[in-house]
Amino acid sequence: MKDMEHSKPWDSNQITREYFDSLLVEMRHIDAVIPSTKLELYGETFDTPIMMAALSHLDNVRENGMVEMAKGAHAANAVNWAGMGDEAEIAAITATGARTINIIKPYADNDYIFRRIEHAERCGVLALGMDVDHSFGGNGKYDVVLGEKMTPKSLTELKEFIKSTKLPFIIKGVLSEQDAYKALEAGAKGIVVSHHHGIMNYAVPPLYILPRIAKVINRQIPIFVDCGIMSGMDVFKALALGADAVSAGRVIMEPLKKNGSDGVKELILKMTEELAGVMARTCSKDINHIDPSVIWHRNGW
Ligand SMILES: Cc1cc2nc3c(=O)[nH]c(=O)nc-3n(C[C@H](O)[C@H](O)[C@H](O)COP(=O)(O)O)c2cc1C
Repeated sequence: MKDMEHSKPWDSNQITREYFDSLLVEMRHIDAVIPSTKLELYGETFDTPIMMAALSHLDNVRENGMVEMAKGAHAANAVNWAGMGDEAEIAAITATGARTINIIKPYADNDYIFRRIEHAERCGVLALGMDVDHSFGGNGKYDVVLGEKMTPKSLTELKEFIKSTKLPFIIKGVLSEQDAYKALEAGAKGIVVSHHHGIMNYAVPPLYILPRIAKVINRQIPIFVDCGIMSGMDVFKALALGADAVSAGRVIMEPLKKNGSDGVKELILKMTEELAGVMARTCSKDINHIDPSVIWHRNGW
C-alpha cells in the first residue's frame, strides 16, 4: 500500500510510475519462439532496444561518468546517448567506440548550435538532436542551464538545424500530438516521447500518450521513449504501445557508481533478458512484432 505521507500526486515521475504499474500483460504461449531483441536503427544493428539516456555531468556519480557509461553501452552493443557537455567530452565519449546520439541543448545562440552540430558530425556520432523541452524554466522565463541561456525554437529554426546536417536529427521532449506533427513537418528523423524526468508537474505519462503519438508518426520515423524505465517489463510495455526503442537514465546511476562501465553493461544485459522473458511469454518473435493487444489496462486510467 502506498505511504500517503510520501505521496506526491503532482509529481510526474510518480504519476508515470503509477501508469507503468497500471498496465497488465496477457500471456500467449502457443507457437511462441525464442525472441530476438535486436534493434535496427539508422542502418546499424544493436543487440537491444535499451539505450543509455541523454545524461550529462555524471562526474559526481563516478569519475569520468559519461565515458564509463559509453563504454558500458558499447560493451553491451547498445546505443548510447549524450546530453549537455563540452566538445572535449563529446569527443571522449565517441572515442570509446560507443554509437552515440548527441542531444544538443536549445542554446539561445543558434550559431553555437550549428557549430555543435558540425562538431558532433566530426566526432562520428550515429545521430544528433535537441531537447526542445529544456527552453523554459518553471517561472515562464527562458531557462538558464549552468550559466547558458536557452530559448524555445520555432519550426523554422528546427528546419534549419535539420537541413544543416546529413545525420538523422531527433527531437527530444515530444509530449503532444501537436509537437509530433511539427517534428514530422520539420523533417526530424526520430522523436523522444519524454517529460524530461518531470520537468513539469502533472505531465502526462509518456506511455499514456504514446499510442496517439504513434498514430501521428505512422511508422515514418522511429519513436523513442524515456522517463521511469526501471525494468525489462517497463521496456516491453513501451515497445508494445508504439516505441521502437527506449532510453534508461536514472536507473543506471547506482550500477555506474558501484561498478563503472561493467555495472552499466550488466544492467543493460539484465534488463534485456527480462525483456526477452516477457517477449517469449507473449509470442513476440522480435521487437517489431509485439502485439499491442497483449496490454490490459487496470481500472482508473
Ligand atoms: C543527471 C541527469 C542529466 C541529464 N542531462 C540531460 C541533458 O543534458 N540533455 C537531455 O536531453 N536530457 C538530459 N537528462 C534527461 C534524460 O535524458 C531523460 O530524459 C530523463 O532522465 C528521463 O529518463 P529516466 O527517468 O530514465 O532518468 C538528464 C537526466 C539526468 C538524471
